[in-house]
Amino acid sequence: MIFHEQKKAQSEIHYKEEELSITNVGVVGCGLMGSGIAEVAATSGFKVTVREMNSDLLEAGQKRIRKSMDRAVEKEKLTPEERDAAWECLTFVTALEDIAHCDIIIEAIVESLELKNALFSELDGLCSPDTIFASNTSSLTITDMAANARADRFVGLHFFNPVPVMKLVEVVRTIATSEETYDRAFEFAKALGKVPIAAKDNSGFVVNLLLVPYMLDAIRQLERGVASVQDIDTGMSLGCGYPMGPFMLCDFVGIDTLYKISEIMFDEYREERYAPPPLLKRVVAMNRYGRKTGKGFYDWSGETPVPLPL
Ligand code: CAA
Ligand code: NAD
Repeated sequence: MIFHEQKKAQSEIHYKEEELSITNVGVVGCGLMGSGIAEVAATSGFKVTVREMNSDLLEAGQKRIRKSMDRAVEKEKLTPEERDAAWECLTFVTALEDIAHCDIIIEAIVESLELKNALFSELDGLCSPDTIFASNTSSLTITDMAANARADRFVGLHFFNPVPVMKLVEVVRTIATSEETYDRAFEFAKALGKVPIAAKDNSGFVVNLLLVPYMLDAIRQLERGVASVQDIDTGMSLGCGYPMGPFMLCDFVGIDTLYKISEIMFDEYREERYAPPPLLKRVVAMNRYGRKTGKGFYDWSGETPVPLPL
């Protein structure tokens, strides 16, 4: 825990460890988000156990974390010693039982209520009743998951992509989340060096309620022939100072994930602005999932992303 103490001092994070009482952190899913969450928890000094479906996916996630940590060293955000200490905090497993000892388990698997509920129901049978369950869902309600597993110890912890860079975490409580669980989850987000905000348990919480229709509207603009991918992206970056335009953001989030989010939010609100545009469906059907698979609205195989014909 020496490394943990150092990090706390460095980042001036103040929390009462006895109140937080979280030492072991479980992360389920080591894709884009799970790898980032595991990295941030490990560099904050927590003991982290990461679970993936099989050894190939686990190895891919492991490599993603290592690459990101190495980049942090290159950028002098971490010393090599800190990186090595953080790496030592990570354990990679494929058996769900091997994560059961954790004080908090953060789920970051694909955006499917059925799969998330199957996972939480299995975890509920394996973990101590004290373990906090947290979901990183983008668009499902926490209530839909918590209703089937320890509702009083269930929260939403919604991180943003890329997790090592984005400071925000939305902390979500349902009407059944206990005060103690919520406070511990909120303090835990702070202990990761993040800025937590309280969000109501509605589909899309605070940020995605605004951000998702923005991305979908950009696709609708393209469908209507208003401008090209490149020009819409340049417009929003240079005209509004956004760090990247909406199509690059779609590729960044994952187009398969955006499609699932859009379906879930449309199902919830039945409002046109959340409906998946047909072009989004077509791009997913072509397995163009964005940066993570090399092609989305852009081709990511070269030095710089190149817009693809649509
Ligand atoms: N992992 C770790 N660090 C990363 C990173 C990654 N994947 N990508 C970039 N960085 C770091 C870089 O090391 C760099 O650090 P320094 O400034 O210390 O050098 C910094 O971030 C800036 O990176 P770059 O200079 O390489 O590139 P950039 O200036 O274009 O920034 C970006 C990259 C931070 C991703 C920026 O483009 C950005 O903020 N984009 C918008 C991201 C965003 O909107 N995220 C929210 C997505 S929606 C969501 O997450 C919710 C949901 O449920 C879908
Ligand atoms: P991803 O497709 O990159 O990763 C999901 C990973 O979960 C895959 O590697 C898959 O093998 C693994 N997985 C599936 N079922 C599993 C199980 N039962 N046990 C262990 N691993 C399992 O997806 P992602 O972008 O990391 O999204 C994960 C979650 O985070 C989703 O709920 C998504 O909505 C949410 N989210 C995504 C973003 C984003 O920008 N991509 C941002 C915030 C939240």
